[in-house]
Amino acid sequence: MTRETWATRTGFILAAAGSAVGLGNIWRFPWMTAENGGSAFLAVYLLVVLGVGVPGLLGEFVIGRRARRNPMGALRDLSGSRYWGAVGAVSAVTGVALLSFYSVVGGWILRYLLVSVTGPVTGGAAYLAAPGPYFQQIDFGYQAALFHLAFLGLTGTIVLGGVRRGIELGTKVMVPAVLVLLVGMAGWVVTQPGAVAGYQFFLGFDPAALRANAASVLAPAAGQALFTLSVGAGTMVTYASYLGEDRSLPFDGSVIALLNTGVGVLAGLVVFPLLFSQGVEPGTGGPGALFVGIAGAFAALPGGELLAIGFFGVVTLAALSSSISMLEIPVAVLVDEGGWSRRRSVATLLALVALTGTVTAFTPALFDFVAGTLVDLLLTGGLLAFLLFAGWVLGPDAVEEYATGAGALAARLVTPWMLAVGVGIPIFLVFTLLTTAGVDAQFGVWPTVAAAIAVVALVLLGLRRRGVWRAVK
Ligand code: PFF
Repeated sequence: MTRETWATRTGFILAAAGSAVGLGNIWRFPWMTAENGGSAFLAVYLLVVLGVGVPGLLGEFVIGRRARRNPMGALRDLSGSRYWGAVGAVSAVTGVALLSFYSVVGGWILRYLLVSVTGPVTGGAAYLAAPGPYFQQIDFGYQAALFHLAFLGLTGTIVLGGVRRGIELGTKVMVPAVLVLLVGMAGWVVTQPGAVAGYQFFLGFDPAALRANAASVLAPAAGQALFTLSVGAGTMVTYASYLGEDRSLPFDGSVIALLNTGVGVLAGLVVFPLLFSQGVEPGTGGPGALFVGIAGAFAALPGGELLAIGFFGVVTLAALSSSISMLEIPVAVLVDEGGWSRRRSVATLLALVALTGTVTAFTPALFDFVAGTLVDLLLTGGLLAFLLFAGWVLGPDAVEEYATGAGALAARLVTPWMLAVGVGIPIFLVFTLLTTAGVDAQFGVWPTVAAAIAVVALVLLGLRRRGVWRAVK
């Protein structure tokens, strides 16, 4: 059977942007920003998106388009080694892990949307009366599991449609809808009393706070940057593997990163003013903060019920356009490697995630572990592997693939990109892994940097390849 490809160029951009734009922007980003000091976090996050996220995204694109295969087949075929194939196979696990918690949050959103829509009939959306206790009632347990299944079913339905009629068509509708609705809401929020305090918290740049927090903010900002761009999981390898013709990967990557960052900032411009207008402290409440704080704001505002429908509608669409990209990773592995039909692959994976997600929906501690530590680890480790592969195994081939279809400006950036991908970013990623493990708190920042350099040097010695050096010569 011939492999499916995207029908149009915008189709690929919107699908990849749809993967990037999601709960990470609207639910995780404001929560992380609030927990890590507002604008200081925003500044570090933007730097990491630019310096690590975009080059990383390009690394995945290069591998995917070169191989035209799923992450497992791509690493194996391009290297000729089963071991690299095994490394790539981790992507399938990452996809399942991501979906196992994401679909639970997607279920919460779906429920809030449903309750908002039926609110006028049932005498007011149930969460409006007492947002905090309401969320605590529904966040975990059998109801959360049921809504998780519903969200998972929607995800599976789109992926079943295939690359063109499912993912491409779906994201072509969802992504523009998200943009339009968010812009409209940000415009409406400007008119709310108290909005200014929210803008100040979010955008009021405070260099002193940044200096004081830079080190502690780095790891969560890096984790968030990878998560929000869908980098490290193999989604972008998979999506780029469906590219038919040669277009400019650097251009497409920049557009996707811009769209994603724009939506993140827009979501902040909606969420923070709403929270502040209600006197809700954004730093408290963890993952439920958005639901509790925002629901409280809807209850108090004139026209709030209508706004609630718009808001949870946006979040549902954004979440779906991301969850389909998570499911597509293991689906592509089963279709390419196992020779399975798409239908059988989707059905099998739905059954699996129905199970793992249900366990997550009943177990708050597991949810926290998967959504936080496990995902950060898998994405950081995954990106590390993809970039070392692009830099040292592909080497000159990666440069060629990058340059194919790229304009003159982008082509000039190929050497810095190669050095970043093969040396700079791996050191940075190992550094964030070490800080997550508490090494810097114990031994100080500079010894941790030295340790990160040593680890990468050892890995490169082990790989015994000259890829990057040959490529930049
Ligand atoms: N980028 C998505 C978001 O911000 O919600 C989450 C995500 C999707 C992460 C796909 C990883 C992935 F492979």
